[in-house]
Amino acid sequence: MEERVYIFDTTLRDGEQTPGVSLNTEEKLGIARQLARLNVDVIEAGFPVASPGDFDAVQTIAREVKGPVICALARANKNDIDRAAEALKPAERKRIHTFIATSDIHLKYKLKKSREEVLKLAVEAVKYAKQYTDDVEFSAEDASRSDLNFLCDVLEAAIEAGATVINIPDTVGYAVPAEFGEFIRAIRQRVKKIDQVVLSVHCHNDLGLAVSNSLAAVQAGANQVEVAVNGLGERAGNAALEEIVMALYTKQNFFNRKTGIRYQEIYRTSRMVSSLAGVQVQPNKAVVGKNAFLHESGIHQDGVLKERTTYEIMNPELIGASRDNIVLGKHSGRHALRERLAELGYNLKEEELDKAFARFKELADRKKEVTDLDIEALVKNEIRISGDLYQLAYLQFYSGTNIIPTATVGLKRNGQTFEEAACGDGPVDAAFHAIDKILGAHHIALDDYNLSAITGGKDALGEVTVRVRYQDRYFIGRGVSTDVVEASVKAYLNAVNIVIQEVGEDAL
Ligand code: KIV
Ligand code: ZN
Repeated sequence: MEERVYIFDTTLRDGEQTPGVSLNTEEKLGIARQLARLNVDVIEAGFPVASPGDFDAVQTIAREVKGPVICALARANKNDIDRAAEALKPAERKRIHTFIATSDIHLKYKLKKSREEVLKLAVEAVKYAKQYTDDVEFSAEDASRSDLNFLCDVLEAAIEAGATVINIPDTVGYAVPAEFGEFIRAIRQRVKKIDQVVLSVHCHNDLGLAVSNSLAAVQAGANQVEVAVNGLGERAGNAALEEIVMALYTKQNFFNRKTGIRYQEIYRTSRMVSSLAGVQVQPNKAVVGKNAFLHESGIHQDGVLKERTTYEIMNPELIGASRDNIVLGKHSGRHALRERLAELGYNLKEEELDKAFARFKELADRKKEVTDLDIEALVKNEIRISGDLYQLAYLQFYSGTNIIPTATVGLKRNGQTFEEAACGDGPVDAAFHAIDKILGAHHIALDDYNLSAITGGKDALGEVTVRVRYQDRYFIGRGVSTDVVEASVKAYLNAVNIVIQEVGEDAL
């Protein structure tokens, strides 16, 4: 019989530690709901002590998201654990995840503690967390660079103290598969009662081996893998959820392990996380990259036409990747849009539906084929910008060779319109300057700009993601349109609106 591998998703915690990524509570809640649809076993929703925003997000997810266990991270101290427990209070199923480093290098330079002190803190933390929930995970940070004897002593003590999940992180992505598999086997052999708890691994991708190391650990007996959607995470990221899940599925005969994942939701989850986090998925990324199921060579195309499995080991339909079929057109009504959105998991309020329908009609006029991906992009954008203080009223620009690009932008706020014109290096730059002039946003710097097409074709909907910096904080804005300048202006305006919301207009 196939044994289960539990999928512990840390997109909202380690994934959010991706440089430049910052998600607000609403965005985290949207992702958590999608992770529940994907049917992950555990959602690590955040690190509540880190900031009031993190606390709020964990608490909101704990209250709203049913199904998976909701987990919160805490260092091995009472204050962190109290905050984690407080944030998790409303959850139906909760887990506290407490950690302390066990490698000599961390003990000496970071913690400045002896091995005895660290072991004691680990035990105290697990016991303290146990008063709040029976489900306590203990992680030995930097486990893969720790002395095996000491690590085993700490793990044994943590189990004795009541830990129900023991996690072995390869914190700095230093392990290689055969070695890491052996490491997990050794832990299983040496640590008493290890077979009575869930044995987890958490691999980072510094050498590009996070997925391989996690799979080697599964072969060696690990039964939980900690992963992030699209491989987001600190530095080079965490093991990618979609790659591990599809490796276990595709090589079922080899691994003989199963997950509870609803494969159909994989692609949508990847798109959603990419769009909200503002991190593009590289085209050649395994499983969810744009090229993952494209065949360029004539020989391959011919093979696939004759029999798909000649060159495809996974079926894109299984992961929900071929949903770009035409679903609605110019003549589709409000009701059809509502139905389709409900099928996609969006239940909009009446006013939201009105706006989404108006945008859909505009799009259907400009674009011949409107797909699920287009509709999702429009709706997400409509919901996202609906609370913005300043809305785009109009945009005009002149650009070309040998002329100075200029743009005029009109913004609406509470029924009043504000207008400015500016020049720039191109029409996008000129329009951004015009917005800065209207809002006096001179301390906001554009840090990153990304344009991608939602679907193929000349009339594709363009999605622009910008990251702006205000003082030391980063804010992400998004815009979609068939016109890339308009999409850019909407994205920039969205980001500036978020800055205003967070710091107040006067601070600009
Ligand atoms: O990489 C790591 O060690 C972590 C721990 C907190 C589990 O993220
Ligand atoms: Zn990590």
